[in-house]
Amino acid sequence: MEAQESAGMNEPEQRLAIGGHFNHTFMWATLKRAGEACSPGPTGVLLAAIEKTYTNLESLIDKVLQTALTRQLPGWIWLCVNENEKILRIVTTNNEDNPMMYGILTAQYRPVLAIDLWEHAYFDQHNGDKETYIKAFFESVNWDKVSAIYEKLHGSGFKSLVSPLELF
Ligand SMILES: [Fe+2]
Repeated sequence: MEAQESAGMNEPEQRLAIGGHFNHTFMWATLKRAGEACSPGPTGVLLAAIEKTYTNLESLIDKVLQTALTRQLPGWIWLCVNENEKILRIVTTNNEDNPMMYGILTAQYRPVLAIDLWEHAYFDQHNGDKETYIKAFFESVNWDKVSAIYEKLHGSGFKSLVSPLELF
């Protein structure tokens, strides 16, 4: 796991607002709508990348869960590709930051999946239980869209960015 802490920011309120908008939009775009049929798991080059780095989807989910359980601060967990390494990484960010903020000049991190780890995301529906939240989250993922995000990134050599607005 590659964890990163928040860097200094000269306009923290703007950072919170802009980051929050992007992060939630990205996350919602990759979740299934009610009754929507889609693949039960990752496919294509995304599946191959997951198997290369995490052996299988279950192992990836367990690593995300362990990351969630060890984090106490509000923030996000991301499945990302690093432009230079070209491999999947689990990255955490504080507050409403996102991985691209850390490499804002090179935008080297390309998000594939975003998981809200603010308490508001799991306090009511899951009684504050991160484990049931994370497991329910992965059952709600639209793997067709997430696989498509990765496929687009892969096709560009991980140099492009996928806007969440492309996903709706
Ligand atoms: Fe949130």
